[in-house]
Amino acid sequence: MTWVCSEPSCQFYNVNTMQIRPRRNRKSETIRALIRENKVSVSDFIFPLFLIEGKQSKSEVTSMPGIFRYSADLILKEIESCMKLGIFNFCVFPSLPDKRKDKIASESLNKNGVYLKTLRQIKKQFPEITLMTDVAMDPYSSDGHDGLVQNGRIVNDPTLKILSRMAVAQAECGADIIGPSDMMDGRVGVIRNALDKAGFEEVSIMSYTAKYASAFYGPFRDALDSAPKFGDKKTYQMDPANAKEALREAKLDSEEGADFLMVKPAMAYLDVIKSLNENTTLPVAAYNVSGEYAMVKAAGAKGWIDEKKVRDEILLSIKRAGAKIILTYFAKEFALDQN
Ligand code: PBG
Repeated sequence: MTWVCSEPSCQFYNVNTMQIRPRRNRKSETIRALIRENKVSVSDFIFPLFLIEGKQSKSEVTSMPGIFRYSADLILKEIESCMKLGIFNFCVFPSLPDKRKDKIASESLNKNGVYLKTLRQIKKQFPEITLMTDVAMDPYSSDGHDGLVQNGRIVNDPTLKILSRMAVAQAECGADIIGPSDMMDGRVGVIRNALDKAGFEEVSIMSYTAKYASAFYGPFRDALDSAPKFGDKKTYQMDPANAKEALREAKLDSEEGADFLMVKPAMAYLDVIKSLNENTTLPVAAYNVSGEYAMVKAAGAKGWIDEKKVRDEILLSIKRAGAKIILTYFAKEFALDQN
């Protein structure tokens, strides 16, 4: 039987002799697997973990179901259980009580404080893992800002000194990758210098290169109780309207000695991931942030989406856009589903 196409455009194209049929490459799962261009692997992940003071203490972040803040003893257990699933890269953030916070983030240098102490324990117990740390003032700042506040403004250059000391203190505890998430100008270069001067040439820097002033960080700020006490972060984090500016940041970070460039958030910034991947020679990471996680969890809990399929599709899209590395709260559950 001859099928006659009624579309006017078919007049010029005889479907009966159509030679090019993309569907042939989709005809079976094995063929689809052969031509598949991208794959998400557990080894692509860095799993963010939240650390709190105390012992035997674990509390779920309300806006991030399945994600907990752990005391040091339990974070060690959590890392061990993730390693069994093939996750070997972790980024640890401290969640501190208000009494530890001040204007200059002093607690970030406290060798006996929960953060630095636990970093040492983690690296001692699990030397084979990649331990990434966070450099920014907000978890320790009574102002809730990533930089130093003077007369209501976030001052750049005085912040750099604080950040570079913080980075060296973390390197002393065994950090493998330092993650400056503050968006101050010049911080990658200053941190690189400080690390090298202190003998930490081998410690890497994963710069939060294109970190946008995003509403997607809401649940993370709940987790750390780190929301700004006044104003917003728009004088240092990037305007979501801008793409070209990300290339400018990427050029600077590359010149200042970054080893990896990160885009954050991920889902709403896939174009930026792609642009950085195509225009730089450094590996690109993307941070699939708290709000992105929360949205999937919330819609999943309501039965409005197939949570796992949506999760996998999002992670794949981040890879496809050009990220080699993904920081994601989904790391453990994705790994669990692989086993
Ligand atoms: C702050 C920091 C933030 C995140 C990582 N480091 C939040 C912010 O800038 O306010 C967000 C991560 C997430 O939302 O998952 N230095």
